[in-house]
Amino acid sequence: MEPFDLLITGGTIVTHEGVAKADIAISGETIGAIGAPGTLGAAKETLDATGLHIMPGAIDVHVHYRDPGMAHKEDWDTGTAAAAMGGVTTVFEMPNTFPPTATPAALADKFERAKTARVDFGLYGLLAEDNIDQLEGLIAGGAAAFKCFMGNTTGNLPSPSTGAMLEGFEIIARHGHRISLHAETASIMAWRQAKLMEAGKNAPLDHLAARPAIVAIEAVQRAASLAEWTGARVHVLHISSADELRPLREAQARGVDITGETCPCYLMLDTDDYARLGPVIKVNPPVREPHHKAGLWAAILDGTIGLVATDHAPHTPEEKRNPDIWEAGAGFPGVETLMPLMLNAVAEGCLSLEQLVRISAYNPARAFGLAPFKGRIAGGSHADLALFDLAAETTIDQAKLHSLRARITPFHGKRVKGVAMHTLSRGQFVMKNKTLVEASRGHGRSVHRLQSMPAPKPLRVEQSLSHLLGSSRADGTTLADRKA
Ligand code: DOR
Ligand code: ZN
Repeated sequence: MEPFDLLITGGTIVTHEGVAKADIAISGETIGAIGAPGTLGAAKETLDATGLHIMPGAIDVHVHYRDPGMAHKEDWDTGTAAAAMGGVTTVFEMPNTFPPTATPAALADKFERAKTARVDFGLYGLLAEDNIDQLEGLIAGGAAAFKCFMGNTTGNLPSPSTGAMLEGFEIIARHGHRISLHAETASIMAWRQAKLMEAGKNAPLDHLAARPAIVAIEAVQRAASLAEWTGARVHVLHISSADELRPLREAQARGVDITGETCPCYLMLDTDDYARLGPVIKVNPPVREPHHKAGLWAAILDGTIGLVATDHAPHTPEEKRNPDIWEAGAGFPGVETLMPLMLNAVAEGCLSLEQLVRISAYNPARAFGLAPFKGRIAGGSHADLALFDLAAETTIDQAKLHSLRARITPFHGKRVKGVAMHTLSRGQFVMKNKTLVEASRGHGRSVHRLQSMPAPKPLRVEQSLSHLLGSSRADGTTLADRKA
């Protein structure tokens, strides 16, 4: 029998179900065996993981890598280096680049740019008012999921009408791809921001005033109704308020396939941090009043919020520090600090290690069609592994971020317990001994071919627009054919 390529000995494995001392043997890109310490025999190479915890590499379904169009903020090389350094082995990248990922040609162009990726990735296609006729082509071209901006943010993409969203949901539902929602209602925010600007308001807290939680409640409710009607799978991005959990819970209870995500900034920061951080804290949706944090943590523990992600949104320090809050860049890099911050929350007793694996890897893999290849430590799964020293402490230092052109974070100076030591992507080290493996450039692959997404049956197929108009699908069949 061929010896294993790599044996990881002496470590403690953490999965969504439990924690155990075990060795892991890797053959090529996958896990070949898992066994009691010292039982797996020899390998070409051995990594001594004594004292370390081994977790499935995190899957961050919400990053912005900026290329094309805004590569002065970030690109695929720096963005995926940051992921590798943080124990993140898969990223899903957002379409609000310039031009946006709204057509098969733009998607093909982004695949070219992503050739420098160091970790695996999925590309989001855009669902907008003016590209409904492009959705089938985006799916054929390898889009791993879709993004719909119900509210304005970086890139100023206009939010689609509810009519366009309904038709887009109908089309995407047939293929089973998940639609991730920036769930903030644009018209409410535009109205309020105009009034605030007229009154000469431009302080950091005025940004929150323009985006009260009702914008999220309204958007989640509306998107959930469309998902229920069409059978589309949807995902609520960056949940910032305890209030939007009600429509989310209600939709989940009705059986709508709707998942939710929150980010470290909503769990760990609040309005008390605005004075200290100024415009650096600006993000869409905004960081809110202190009481929301408890609601979000409770929703993680009861499963309403099934995913943690980052909304990794790099801007240059100059763009972030604009004293006019309406002009300051929204968001900050997060993919490198996600796991240290969440492990620190584990150390503080906010959640268990198993719960962290569930929300950072296991659930994202299931929600976005990557199971059983990713999100678990099991024989045959990809050897996507993150090894952490949970006893080590460090101070987050923005000057050391691998997002080289966006070295600014509201977590600068925060002391955290939990340090990423090694990261493996499909059996290859992309970070070793806290050092980026330079040769990992270009190792990353698109995950779209792994995805298994049985198309759900649209609930209202007889009323879908293409059915009523008798238009045909990309594969030549009509919905009527499929029903027959
Ligand atoms: O703050 C944000 N920044 N929120 C978003 O939804 C987008 C992101 C960006 O692309 O800068
Ligand atoms: Zn985002």
